[in-house]
Amino acid sequence: MKALILDASLKTATVKDIPLPLPAPGELLIHVHSIALNPIDSLYVAHPLGATGRVVGSDFAGTVVSLSPSTPSLSSSKSESKDEKKEEACKLKPGSRVAGFLQGACSVNERPGAFAEYVVCAWDLVWEIPGNVTFGEAASISLCGLTAAQAVYYRLGLAAPFGSIESLGLRSRDAQADEEGKEIDFFIYSASTSVGMYAAQLVRRGAEASGRRTKLFGTASGKRFQLLRDEPCKYDHLVDYHNADWVQHIRDLSDGHGMHYALDCISEGDSVRLVAETLSKDGRLGIVRSREGGAWEADDLRVEPIYGAVWECLGAEVQYQGLTVPASPEARKFATEFYRWLSEGGKLEPNPVRKMPGGLERVVEDGFALLGTGSMQDREQRRGEPWMKPVGAEKLVYNLIE
Ligand SMILES: NC(=O)c1ccc[n+]([C@@H]2O[C@H](COP(=O)([O-])OP(=O)(O)OC[C@H]3O[C@@H](n4cnc5c(N)ncnc54)[C@H](OP(=O)(O)O)[C@@H]3O)[C@@H](O)[C@H]2O)c1
Repeated sequence: MKALILDASLKTATVKDIPLPLPAPGELLIHVHSIALNPIDSLYVAHPLGATGRVVGSDFAGTVVSLSPSTPSLSSSKSESKDEKKEEACKLKPGSRVAGFLQGACSVNERPGAFAEYVVCAWDLVWEIPGNVTFGEAASISLCGLTAAQAVYYRLGLAAPFGSIESLGLRSRDAQADEEGKEIDFFIYSASTSVGMYAAQLVRRGAEASGRRTKLFGTASGKRFQLLRDEPCKYDHLVDYHNADWVQHIRDLSDGHGMHYALDCISEGDSVRLVAETLSKDGRLGIVRSREGGAWEADDLRVEPIYGAVWECLGAEVQYQGLTVPASPEARKFATEFYRWLSEGGKLEPNPVRKMPGGLERVVEDGFALLGTGSMQDREQRRGEPWMKPVGAEKLVYNLIE
């Protein structure tokens, strides 16, 4: 099969022929129809952690070719009397449409990525694509949707619509939980990022499930406001972050008390320090990039930012940027519950996608050029083709099968 392979010494990736992967116990072999690009894909090709020869890339969507013989299928669990055992069985079969993500070359650990004609993935870390969602749209959801769900429910502690916090035995970390009926003010910095747009939808879904009144505040470029005010995000208030006084503006909008929750969806430069200033006394701050990675710096923060890597969902140890993320069965359970919820359909509307021309061969030259090598502020794009306009409020998607 063809796959996009890391060349660590040249800090690039090229399409090569490699053998088809074999599903291990509990894994599926999947024929990839579409892939979606994330900033980490280009970041860890420009600054390689993996060794030459690794398949790069994270998000994929495709069809199941086969299940490894030991995957707990529904038919093999029929003799189980307990309903919960049946629920944990794999309902997928050859031909099922699924989406998920792999770690690619984004860690020291040896794990092949997703930018290939075929991938293998654990059956409980994919979700079944509802009939009205295209492969391209589905590919845009798995990594950023889970990142947003982890931030909003798992780390910041808003009640999840799929009851995961409770079933995991975790205490709700809702800072305002003791004040019944109090309105929640939730602020998303860089609301037009892929993570931010899914986070807004998930805040809305959480509020619908818990019945708590919730107001959504965000920052973005003014040209994104209409998109963000409309369904499905439905922001109550938006401020352009290019205005020097945006922090004060956000505080004023909360009647001066500050935000109960804030999620900084870029976490670079001075964004973490500024977003922290929007918070109320007991407010909670989620971030998407670690302090150790060096993307942001801030002294004397009024709150300790809560960071986590989406990779925690693997339930296996992950090493990157000098960090070791220990294996977390809870994070894996959270991910499987989130994906099960997505499989029910109608839960999250896909973010807008930009269909990029060409297949795997064009990913580095066009897609990675658009995403740059790590920092949003350094994304520079001077090429004139229509598909090479700067990325904003949309996901770059390549179809491997037309
Ligand atoms: N922790 C994790 O596991 C995890 C997982 C996924 C992603 N991430 C990180 O999350 C971040 C967002 O990823 P993404 O895929 O959601 O990004 P994305 O969709 O590529 O973000 C595009 C948006 O960035 C905004 N932007 C560009 N420059 C900006 C600036 N200087 N200040 C504020 N906003 C700016 C633009 O907003 P406007 O058009 O409105 O200006 C644009 O819409 C990345 O750093 C990524 O590495 C972390």
